[in-house]
Amino acid sequence: MSDAPVSDDERFRRCLEIQRRVSSERNLGRLAKVVMSEITALLGADRSTLFLFDWDTMELRADFAEGVEGRALVVPIRMGIVGTAILRREIINVSNAYASPYFNAEFDSMLGYRTESLLAAPLFGSDGRVLGGLELINHDAGHFSADDEAVMQPHAARLARLIAEGAADVAAVAAGIAAVRTQVGCDRGTLFVLEEGSGRLMAIHADGSDAGAMSLSVKLGIAGLTAVAGRSMRIAEAWDDPRFDRSVDEATGYRTRSMLCVPLKNAAGESVGVVQAINKHIGLFSEDDLATLEAVAGIVAIAIENAVMFADQERQFDSMLNVMAASIDAKDGLTAGHSNNVSLHAVAIGRELGFNREELNLLRVAAVLHDYGKIGIDDSVLKKQGRLDAAEYAHMKMHAQLSEDILTRIHFSRKYRNVAVIAASHHECLDGSGYPHGLTEREIPFMAKILTVADVFEALTADRHYRKRMSREEALEIIDAGAGTRFDRHVIAALRRSLGLPAKAAAKLDAGQGHASGAGGTASRH
Ligand SMILES: [Fe+2]
Repeated sequence: MSDAPVSDDERFRRCLEIQRRVSSERNLGRLAKVVMSEITALLGADRSTLFLFDWDTMELRADFAEGVEGRALVVPIRMGIVGTAILRREIINVSNAYASPYFNAEFDSMLGYRTESLLAAPLFGSDGRVLGGLELINHDAGHFSADDEAVMQPHAARLARLIAEGAADVAAVAAGIAAVRTQVGCDRGTLFVLEEGSGRLMAIHADGSDAGAMSLSVKLGIAGLTAVAGRSMRIAEAWDDPRFDRSVDEATGYRTRSMLCVPLKNAAGESVGVVQAINKHIGLFSEDDLATLEAVAGIVAIAIENAVMFADQERQFDSMLNVMAASIDAKDGLTAGHSNNVSLHAVAIGRELGFNREELNLLRVAAVLHDYGKIGIDDSVLKKQGRLDAAEYAHMKMHAQLSEDILTRIHFSRKYRNVAVIAASHHECLDGSGYPHGLTEREIPFMAKILTVADVFEALTADRHYRKRMSREEALEIIDAGAGTRFDRHVIAALRRSLGLPAKAAAKLDAGQGHASGAGGTASRH
């Protein structure tokens, strides 16, 4: 952080640096940290905050406010459905208002009225600036149609023009709302105007009710107003500004003076958040500072969209993975949890072997799905008590090939593209005696060698239909017997380390060279 004025060249260089750093960051928390520290330095400010818009709760949240340790700043934007329409910059059509998370029932309780259906449209000036919103309530037919939306649009545009031209007197507005109300066929119409001077969204006329102009308004604060209006704000002395919300300052003992607040917008023009810089060290924030922050905000908004989309994809992928694991578990209650336990062992082994995060993730996914082919194995074989006969065993062995067949049909993103081959090779043996392909040591993917050990260890140390669980030591003894023929020695050693067990003596390890036929029949059924 430097108090000296930053030259244009330096500023440009720092903007490029920010672009470089944020464009590769997909973690929201880290992204926020980078953005805030860079902006603070770039503008010579005291602190900066990154608010993200949460559409579920209709809040602007700053979970990572720099200089406000360990607390989240929350700016609620409870402007109801019309506010949501403004933020989304689109018409919102709701057939059951009380079922909508965005509905604000304050009007109803004030007027002793019940809103059922609702149609809300944002009003924009010719420069794209938010002017307010138009709301129609309770359609005669029970809900508003797409035709009604089309009818509403030109009326909303005309009302926006009235506001923009400063010609929005009560008579003109009343006539405008009455016209659209009659044409659409509904109970009530209300025009809201965003008063930028006060930061309030005011209902200036409600047609069809006796209340006329209503005093209900929502105070947004500087950050909220920036998000709603979608316009940057530069403030010299925050405490002198009626829009400023002093509650955070009062709670923290900090004194906000100068402010710069810029909206973060996605490609659709929706506000996805706000970035603000507070207290310029020398003088006030300049027009140049504003232009710089706006340029940075454009980059940051894209990075945030990417990070949010990435997190969303990860969640979707994980939920799909969980459903797939659960569907194998549902086949057989006693082996339920096997896939997950195998993945825990496999990841622990991978960690011991120095795998990085991406590699551990690939291993985890392959482990969770390794037995997915059991979905195609008959219950009579899968749940059989006692030994399998030759035909049953042959049928059972098909699950590895089935895992491969099914998993190769799933489109995995690039980092997971080897999931199918790793998962399907979990019964291959180093000496080529395994299945489904009889691969040898050099051909078996290394991660599959980890799965093999993790799979056998998990199966032996868990209860099965055909036998009781073994102790970890007994299980390791069986696995040791297959070292070098069925199992990879390094993997076994890593398993021991992951369990906190001492390494096996070298002499004993060599003795384990012999063929692991003892583990044959039953152990192969994990
Ligand atoms: Fe298996």
